[in-house]
Amino acid sequence: MTDEIFSADCGGCELMKQHGRREFLRNAALAVGALALPVHFIEAITLRDELATYPFPATDGVFIDKNKEVIVARTGGQVYAFMLSCPHQNTALRWNSKDQKFQCPKHHSQYKPDGSFIDGRATRAMDRFAVKHDGANLVVNLDKVFEDDRDHAGWKGAAVAV
Ligand code: FES
Repeated sequence: MTDEIFSADCGGCELMKQHGRREFLRNAALAVGALALPVHFIEAITLRDELATYPFPATDGVFIDKNKEVIVARTGGQVYAFMLSCPHQNTALRWNSKDQKFQCPKHHSQYKPDGSFIDGRATRAMDRFAVKHDGANLVVNLDKVFEDDRDHAGWKGAAVAV
């Protein structure tokens, strides 16, 4: 693709004019990459009483611990830990990479990457665990669960900033 062709496709946009084709393409690729959250399977580094410790996510993504039934998600400058089970009837939730949302395979409830409810039979957002940033780690309190409909302020605050 020549710059002439790209300019025609771009319609002479300001970003293209200011930064040139190569930088525009690099920024566009970064923007797309920032939206797509990759999924990884993880295990806790340590389990002490009710506390599960994980490496603090270095990049945005969805991290699933099947053993402890915890989902850690880093997105939008925040890190959350969710219960793996759907708040409707406890079916294990899945990450839909194509649509970038959590989905329940049983009755198809859908949730945003921050656990907010989108649609479906569930009546609340994904349940969040209490979390804290501890050095290079994320500590998840498996005994402290916030349900959005019972304690919205607690649920909303169950996050740590990156
Ligand atoms: S169990 Fe998830 S929507 Fe019913």
